[in-house]
Amino acid sequence: MNTNTVSQLLAKDQFGQEIEINGWVRTFRAKRFIALNDGSTINNIQCVVDFENTDENTLKRITTGAAVHIKGELIESQGKGQKVEIAVKSIEILGDSDPETYPIQPKKHSFEFLRENAHLRTRTSTFSAIMRLRSSLSFAVHKYFNENGFYYMHTPIITGSDAEGAGEMFRVTNLDAKTPPLTEEGKVDFKEDFFGSETNLTVSGQLEAETYAMSLGKVYTFGPTFRAENSNTSRHLSEFWMIEPEVAFMDLAGNMDLAEDFMKSVINYILENNREDLEFLENRLLDEEKTKPQAERSEMSLIEKLKFVVDNNFKRVSYTEAIDILRNSKPNKKKKFNYIIEEWGADLQSEHERFLVEKHFKCPVILFDYPANIKAFYMRLNEDGKTVRAMDILFPGIGEIVGGAQREERLDVLKQKMAALDISEEELWWYLDLRKYGTAVHSGFGLGFERLVMFATGMTNIRDVIPYPRTPQNAEF
Ligand code: 4AD
Ligand code: MG
Repeated sequence: MNTNTVSQLLAKDQFGQEIEINGWVRTFRAKRFIALNDGSTINNIQCVVDFENTDENTLKRITTGAAVHIKGELIESQGKGQKVEIAVKSIEILGDSDPETYPIQPKKHSFEFLRENAHLRTRTSTFSAIMRLRSSLSFAVHKYFNENGFYYMHTPIITGSDAEGAGEMFRVTNLDAKTPPLTEEGKVDFKEDFFGSETNLTVSGQLEAETYAMSLGKVYTFGPTFRAENSNTSRHLSEFWMIEPEVAFMDLAGNMDLAEDFMKSVINYILENNREDLEFLENRLLDEEKTKPQAERSEMSLIEKLKFVVDNNFKRVSYTEAIDILRNSKPNKKKKFNYIIEEWGADLQSEHERFLVEKHFKCPVILFDYPANIKAFYMRLNEDGKTVRAMDILFPGIGEIVGGAQREERLDVLKQKMAALDISEEELWWYLDLRKYGTAVHSGFGLGFERLVMFATGMTNIRDVIPYPRTPQNAEF
């Protein structure tokens, strides 16, 4: 006999079959009804125990959290709420769970409490739904690129370069922390270090992805990235996953088209394939909304929001237009923003991004052509000499979800920019080589995967959409 999953059994209506199943007890009621879950679906299967013919000791060991193996018969359910259930013939306790100390009680727990018990939080419906969606979205990412002629490239995690030029990197070293070898000038001598030079964890796979785009044409990376920014916000992680496509012979307009088509495709994938999990999370959010004052409630439900993104064009707006809108906006005039927008050239804070998306345009927005001096060195300079071909995609409830650009493909202009920012040509000699040999227009972007999962699940804290979040002062598990 095969062991079945809950998901398979719930889809079956062949009553009378002998089945076997493994899972964890969610609840056990009236010495009779086990709600069993095995992770294969948000739904539990009801297993009805014949308590008169089950010994008292076994009945006592059927507790929330226990792992069990059940043999029984699939029958049409007598009770409400489910179509099928299992008439239990025998139950074996595989692993006991002490009801006095098991942290995941069948009641509502706060997200803070569950974060402290992150190793067990996927035993709850909410977190199992989130993590199944995370897995599906990840599959949808690979599916999209595979179906559109992209090659998956593994960019290095240990690098010597600072791709974003922001200097927010974690050093990788095996030098002795107390007594590192020193140079004659008294500085740490990285020539003595493991790699013979200073190395760090990557902040982005982009620069390496560019090298492959300039030979394989269309590539993408999807891997972990690391940022030592000390920002303890609900949208930042020190370790997060980034998806970075890079395409040769594609300009900024093509980049926007690609990003929009890609985002719609992966969101549509979960609408089509993860309906039950989405409905569960939608109802969770609706319950949460009821506790808020009317004015703060969201106009759309979770699934409506996802459909809205799939069915509507993203609004494309230049940075210059956006600054005009922000300068003349109510919160700016009434000094409600923490950072008041005064001049063209100001960097946008998340409060401004969210105003544009949530209050002004009320749809996803692609902002492009940013001032050169607030963006990274590799972005292509426009003819005006002061803006670059950058694009950021802003999503409701999230703010920036994608950052990308057309890359500077002209050797002389790139060298000038690097010199102005004091970026060493020696270190990036290979990056410059791309501009020496067969250079061409090319573009790409980076999507923060966790921000996508936040949007797709309606979760408001990024720590709740990655299994084990790494943030300042926290690397538990
Ligand atoms: O805008 P960023 O810094 O762009 C790059 O790294 C480019 N090299 C990408 C490229 O063009 N290939 O980061 C891209 C995205 C952001 O829009 C955001 O969604 C996410 O990565 N991100 C973070 N997500 C979680 N925690 C953080 N600390 C993040 N920093 C960036
Ligand atoms: Mg960015």
